[in-house]
Amino acid sequence: MQRQQLVEEIKILMDLVERKTTTLADSVMEIDVNEYTNPEQFQREKIELFRNYPQFVGPSCVVPESGDYFAFDDTGVPILIVRQEDESLKAFVNICSHRGAPLNECDHGKAKKGRVFSCPYHGWTYDLEGKLIGVPFGNEGFDTIDRDTLGLRPLDVQEKYGMIFVMPNPDKTFDIDETLAGLQERLSGFGFEDHYYLGAKQVFTDFSWKLNMDTFHEYYHFEFLHAESIATMAYSNTAHYKQYGRNHSMGSPALAINELKDIPEGQWEPREYASFVNFIFPNTVIFVVNDHFQTWRVYPITPDRSVVYHSMFLPNRPQEGEEREQYEAYFQMINDVAVSEDYSLVDKINRGLKAGIERKVLVGRNEPGVQNMHRQLREVLGK
Ligand code: FES
Ligand SMILES: [Fe+2]
Repeated sequence: MQRQQLVEEIKILMDLVERKTTTLADSVMEIDVNEYTNPEQFQREKIELFRNYPQFVGPSCVVPESGDYFAFDDTGVPILIVRQEDESLKAFVNICSHRGAPLNECDHGKAKKGRVFSCPYHGWTYDLEGKLIGVPFGNEGFDTIDRDTLGLRPLDVQEKYGMIFVMPNPDKTFDIDETLAGLQERLSGFGFEDHYYLGAKQVFTDFSWKLNMDTFHEYYHFEFLHAESIATMAYSNTAHYKQYGRNHSMGSPALAINELKDIPEGQWEPREYASFVNFIFPNTVIFVVNDHFQTWRVYPITPDRSVVYHSMFLPNRPQEGEEREQYEAYFQMINDVAVSEDYSLVDKINRGLKAGIERKVLVGRNEPGVQNMHRQLREVLGK
């Protein structure tokens, strides 16, 4: 996102602060508790949102060099994404053509010697293009197989604006611009391709992936749930909201934003005075603040269990020692706030949802992000 766009957003935020209000949706939304708990709906979500819908993988810097890979299996399809020698990307179903083992652990890393993947079970090997190039004891044990047809199954992967998306269903393709629906104009310019990937924290939560996502879409709760943490830095219940197709963006003003009144506009550093949430439907939040950005990717496991990957990306590789420790401590602190404040509260909400009491969940006009996620979800599921 170019500086001028951020400056314009800062002006909107200053106006909202002045008027003590926030971007409002047209009306209050009601969500039946059933939409969170129904096991049939859950199965449809797994298919329509996590198998047949393009998935955000990460910024391009998760696989910076030829031979680098990123593997995850949280959509239900084990996926392997590999940087090729010509710097393009390929993605495969991460299932060995022999007896089906994944070729590596779910994480990021480098292919052996930067060139091959060797299955940990019986050592079948594949090159970066997914071609089967080695079968131990193959001449005798597998004398009749046609190796040319036994490469890794390709998936549609696309990289643009410093971001990587993949389609888990091998029979489907997608268009990245259509998926982003304009959000790319806000996102390009943040330099997602050349940040340093500090790492990811995996957190399992005993509640629905949707309850998990709900926590990221509104600023109404800052003053109450985060009174001692975030609310000491940012305004509660004041945010600028904008929709892009199924996605949306939100800006949140820091308490210090009015300092800008005394600074000439040409000298503003917008990211010091606001944070920016970018929601990529259905399960990703890219949080841009100060000098860095973070991603949160949430995946369903069962109707009331989910997993979130919280990843940190820095403008440069930190120096070993004090600088790295400071960033690691900051990363841990942010993660702790989410786990100890948001997630421990949502645990209790989940108990209420499962109590079998028929009622509606209410989402206010001041919570347009929460409304959008559920509205889009209903649309994709045809509800
Ligand atoms: S399952 Fe991969 S080599 Fe046997
Ligand atoms: Fe929160």
